[in-house]
Amino acid sequence: MNTGLQPLNKHLAQARPSATYRMMDRVAARRASGAKVISLSAGEPDFDTPAHVRAAAIEAINAGHTRYTQVAGMRALREAVAAKYRNENGFDVRWDDTIVCSGGKQVIYNALAATLNEGDEVIVPAPYWVSYPEMVQLCGARAVVVTCGSDSGFKLTPQALADAIGPRTRWLILNSPSNPTGAVYSREELAALAEVLLAHPQVLVLSDDIYEHLIFDGARFHTIAQVEPRLASRTLTMNGVSKAYAMTGWRIGYATGPRWLLEAMEKLQGQQTSGASSISQHAALAALTGPQQFIAETRAVFERRRDMMVRMLNETPGLSCAVPGGAFYAFASCKGLIGRTTAAGTLLTTDEDVALALLEEADVAVVHGSAFGVGPYIRIAYALDDDALKAACLAMRDFCGATRG
Ligand SMILES: Cc1ncc(COP(=O)(O)O)c(C=O)c1O
Repeated sequence: MNTGLQPLNKHLAQARPSATYRMMDRVAARRASGAKVISLSAGEPDFDTPAHVRAAAIEAINAGHTRYTQVAGMRALREAVAAKYRNENGFDVRWDDTIVCSGGKQVIYNALAATLNEGDEVIVPAPYWVSYPEMVQLCGARAVVVTCGSDSGFKLTPQALADAIGPRTRWLILNSPSNPTGAVYSREELAALAEVLLAHPQVLVLSDDIYEHLIFDGARFHTIAQVEPRLASRTLTMNGVSKAYAMTGWRIGYATGPRWLLEAMEKLQGQQTSGASSISQHAALAALTGPQQFIAETRAVFERRRDMMVRMLNETPGLSCAVPGGAFYAFASCKGLIGRTTAAGTLLTTDEDVALALLEEADVAVVHGSAFGVGPYIRIAYALDDDALKAACLAMRDFCGATRG
């Protein structure tokens, strides 16, 4: 508790802790008291990091690669990152057009911290990843949240973007495939947003491509600076190894963008964390330059799970779920449960009530949609094996079926 004797930074004092981590803590507490909780709350793949990546890390340790690296990352890894952007995204970039950070999260935070001043605005389409508005808040700026409902497939429309841009707008944050909805922007949709942005040269674009490879139905991935190269000089295209190679714990993210921005981020990082873990950088190098079949294999698994989850969720009374095009999340409306009472007697007035009751009465953990800026929804991460997912869906079905109106 802040008693006033321990004054906090005013921006931190107003920021909210991550709702996903809060739910993970609740799950841990419930498990500690003996409950068998199926957790669909964590945003990480359930697979092991590929064997050749793990071997590269062990080799790096034994070869003595255990010292500080350059702040912006080892040259070899930055070469690999640049090659990835050239080959997969069609960017004309070299190693010194890239930066490596301790996770995608640090890329985003440092980009915002390096550029935002008090009173600046950042456009954050909702549903959003929980960290965006809080990071903006920590930097002393203001998140302008633009609600994108199910009618637009949870995606920002050109009109909504045009309406949100003002004289203080510094950034637009785009995330496709999206956490929490799995929505994927098409080339045409990005081109239409780019058209609006071209008329506002003061607006920077942060393209969060962390779920790039988790895209289904044979669709192609597009990123805005590739769709509209005239935006490349003011776009930070961010990515990382966390989701693509099941490497969330290794903490390696990277980006490409204009040199002035990368240099500012490097300056900040040099006074903060310095270079990312040398061992993790060697592992990331192996991930980016080694065999890539892991990506196709895990994508196929997630796509199969998505189909099963959407079918089972839509068979659950009170829930309805559109088909997400990517990532590993289903964002299901729980509107049909609001106003109802659970078997244990809890009145469900918000989506947070639904998520808490699901945990306490059905031992299934999900995150409420309002934490991502749009309710009443629940976000379901389907990063568990089929049996656990089926068991969770059946428990949710029983829970929902037992509510009374
Ligand atoms: C949309 C989005 N962006 C960025 C990140 C950050 O990833 P990491 O810091 O693990 O690289 C996450 C992780 O959950 C995410 O969901």
